Amino acid sequence: MSNVVVIGAQWGDEGKGKVVDLLTDHADVVVRFQGGNNAGHTLVVDGQKTVLHLIPSGILHPGKVCVIGNGVVVDPEVLAREIAQLKARGLLQDDGQLVLSLDAHVIMPWHKAIDVAREQRMGDAKIGTTGRGIGPTYEDKVARRGLRIRDLLDEQRLARKVKERLATARDELSRLGASTDLDESAVVQQYSALGQTLAPYAKDASLWLHVAIKAGKSLLFEGAQGTLLDVDHGTYPFVTSSNTVAGNAATGAGVGPTAIDRVIGISKAYSTRVGGGPYPTELKEAVGEKLRQVGGEFGATTGRPRRTGWIDTLALRYAVRVNGLDGLAITKLDVLTGFPEIKIGVGYRSGQRTFEEMPSDLETLERCDAVYETVPGWTESLAGARRWSDLPKAARAYVERIAQLTGVKVIAVSVGADRGETIVLENPFQVPRAKLG
Ligand code: GDP
Ligand code: IMO
Ligand code: MG
Repeated sequence: MSNVVVIGAQWGDEGKGKVVDLLTDHADVVVRFQGGNNAGHTLVVDGQKTVLHLIPSGILHPGKVCVIGNGVVVDPEVLAREIAQLKARGLLQDDGQLVLSLDAHVIMPWHKAIDVAREQRMGDAKIGTTGRGIGPTYEDKVARRGLRIRDLLDEQRLARKVKERLATARDELSRLGASTDLDESAVVQQYSALGQTLAPYAKDASLWLHVAIKAGKSLLFEGAQGTLLDVDHGTYPFVTSSNTVAGNAATGAGVGPTAIDRVIGISKAYSTRVGGGPYPTELKEAVGEKLRQVGGEFGATTGRPRRTGWIDTLALRYAVRVNGLDGLAITKLDVLTGFPEIKIGVGYRSGQRTFEEMPSDLETLERCDAVYETVPGWTESLAGARRWSDLPKAARAYVERIAQLTGVKVIAVSVGADRGETIVLENPFQVPRAKLG
């Protein structure tokens, strides 16, 4: 048994949900450790599509337990709806299949209102958030005035906390010129009722995971967003408000870093980004539009068209570094079929300066253009490819070049949205990292 972290190596939407669903076969427990319902993880099994925002992507596997860790910010309304939708489909019949950390912070109505009002105020300078209240909720957590799942379970405590926080939230909303029309007792009633709905799942998740680890269970940690959206390591301030990198799997789940054996990054065979911020390999003309249409690049959470571009191996090498990646899974290789030539971002240029590593300064990065290497495309459909040898030579050469440029091996190649449309080259659960000593 081993414990594996899966994270996005780009700007999110890399296909983490698909890969986690696939790898759940080898795990006992799947854990979300950060982010909230800004995430939209799509799973397709035998043509049936499921989009998950909060519940980990292992939930389609009966008998496997899904854990929402302390590092996640939870909109209880969204979680309750997601649970009800799964139950209506005959899934999640056993409440023991979902564990919700008592310490996870709660997204309250004012967080969503503040998020949306701030973005409106910022005009062109906006971050392009999902408007789900993610940033304001993490702010309250760090400011030590947040509400946690445990607070929803005690109505008196909830009423006290809502009263305290609503007063200052109203001030902020009125400064932003937004409606302050939030009824205190209605909020208490609604969130107390949601607390009752979620009570069967609410547990000390860190302790629960500790017991699972001691019992020899295999854990799969599911990242949300992507490395370049990390609040410390991403293209700040055009980032989300949590640490999306692998190191946060431990903190956001309440386990020690020694519990982690392997770290896998997911990357599309090209790149996408939703919202504002620098993106050196972005394609603004016909090729970008073709990638968007063929790849179906519209957000799983907001429906917004995603910005599209070629793969950026500087950004991927950076992801290898800050996550300590052991391997990469390359998704959506099928989308590149039919492009006569494919470009690979191998460097950046700004005026006379060239870069071989991702610059950490945002203004420098904003001025950079990508330097490309051009490789031949292929015309064959990849839909039926299930083995490495089924791929056309040019597609294999493309994947091999990415592995070479990033310095990590490619452990899986995805050639379609369905669970089965995958070529697995190495199972990360079967290759335990050699322990020191
Ligand atoms: P996540 O947020 O990282 O889980 O990714 P999303 O679900 O937001 O976006 C990935 C999209 O690509 C979803 O619509 C998936 O169904 C789809 N997808 C995943 N892998 C593949 C693939 O290999 N080929 C194609 N064509 N689509 C894929
Ligand atoms: P998954 O898990 C892609 C982006 C938003 C915005 C920035 C901040 O599906 O890969 P936020 O609402 O988090 O404050 O927005 O982060 N963003 C995502 N982009 N995939 C996601 O999640 C994202 N979650 C947030 O578009 O640019
Ligand atoms: Mg997504």
